[in-house]
Amino acid sequence: MTKKPQNNMYNNNKSHNDESITTTSTGDNYMQNIHIDKINTNNNNICVENVTVDNFHIDNIKSLPRIYSGKVRDLYNIDDKKMLMVASDRLSTFDIILNQAIPKKGIYLTQISLFWFNYLNDIKNHLTNYKLEDFLTGTELEYAQGRAVIVNKLKPVPIEAIVRGYLAGSGYKDYLKHGAICGISLPPHLRNAEKLPYPIFTPSTKAQIGDHDENITMQQCKNIIGAQLTEQIQQTAIEIYQKASELALKKGIIIADTKFEFGLNDDGELVLMDEVLTPDSSRFWNQDEYIVGTNPPSFDKQFVRDYLELELCWNKQPPIPDLPAAIIQKTVDKYYEIIKRLGIE
Ligand SMILES: Nc1ncnc2c1ncn2[C@@H]1O[C@H](COP(=O)(O)OP(=O)(O)O)[C@@H](O)[C@H]1O
Ligand SMILES: [Mg+2]
Repeated sequence: MTKKPQNNMYNNNKSHNDESITTTSTGDNYMQNIHIDKINTNNNNICVENVTVDNFHIDNIKSLPRIYSGKVRDLYNIDDKKMLMVASDRLSTFDIILNQAIPKKGIYLTQISLFWFNYLNDIKNHLTNYKLEDFLTGTELEYAQGRAVIVNKLKPVPIEAIVRGYLAGSGYKDYLKHGAICGISLPPHLRNAEKLPYPIFTPSTKAQIGDHDENITMQQCKNIIGAQLTEQIQQTAIEIYQKASELALKKGIIIADTKFEFGLNDDGELVLMDEVLTPDSSRFWNQDEYIVGTNPPSFDKQFVRDYLELELCWNKQPPIPDLPAAIIQKTVDKYYEIIKRLGIE
């Protein structure tokens, strides 16, 4: 069954393309209620395109109120303290959600996060001991199985805690321009994909949906969340990165960089939340394919990006082209390879 969303028009000053629309506040001051809609800019109006909502998975759970839908996850309220966090099979690239789902991707992401939360058991995380069966039944439980967790609601710390062990992506661009990333000076003559002398913490802003995260300096980070919290997050994030990288390397995976999200609980303690060390939040390289001075292929949406960018020469403006089945399958396989390598299945 395919359902079409209403063809809404929003008068909105946003000049860029967006994929979600902020609507009403739920009364929970830490989070807004956001509907996933594929939207398109047109003379500064944003209109919802006809998209297959089922692929977006947002209607699969109805018995709990949905409080947020991000690019990948849907959050449903349980009570003041906890919520259900469901990873859908949505895949976003260039900040636009694809029309097609990547089958089981949400399950893979959740299982990978659970693997790392468990491995990093000395780091306080947002998981609870509740079971899905405590709150869901029937087809909802079936859908949520493997892809959902019941988590403590936290007050999100409004920065992304990025740790880089290797030079890549926007970090490499920054380095070429400034010899530094986020204001951290690095030795000269480093090549693309080169291992850094030590892992560095390079925070970024947490952009509203549709905007892009921006790298910030430590000082800017301190201005946003305070010096003490910045230092605590820096230390924790680097520690997690080091511990996880060592294990990953034994499995032939290089974690080039990764992004953590933290929140604060009611006691003001720092808690690791969201997803952890997945191919969506990290740049994983296959050790066998790693060559300094190149762009090593990564274990994520690389096929999708290459197909859209190189094969179709898509201009990154909506509508996003549909993906052929072969590209979807290759992407599924890439995500699954991480599962296999980590020995999760
Ligand atoms: N325990 C938690 N408490 C509060 N917010 C959380 C928690 N875990 C994750 N989140 C938030 O839930 C959202 C997950 O949805 P996701 O699709 O990853 O969103 P995004 O498009 O912002 O990446 C993120 O905004 C993340 O910050
Ligand atoms: Mg996210």
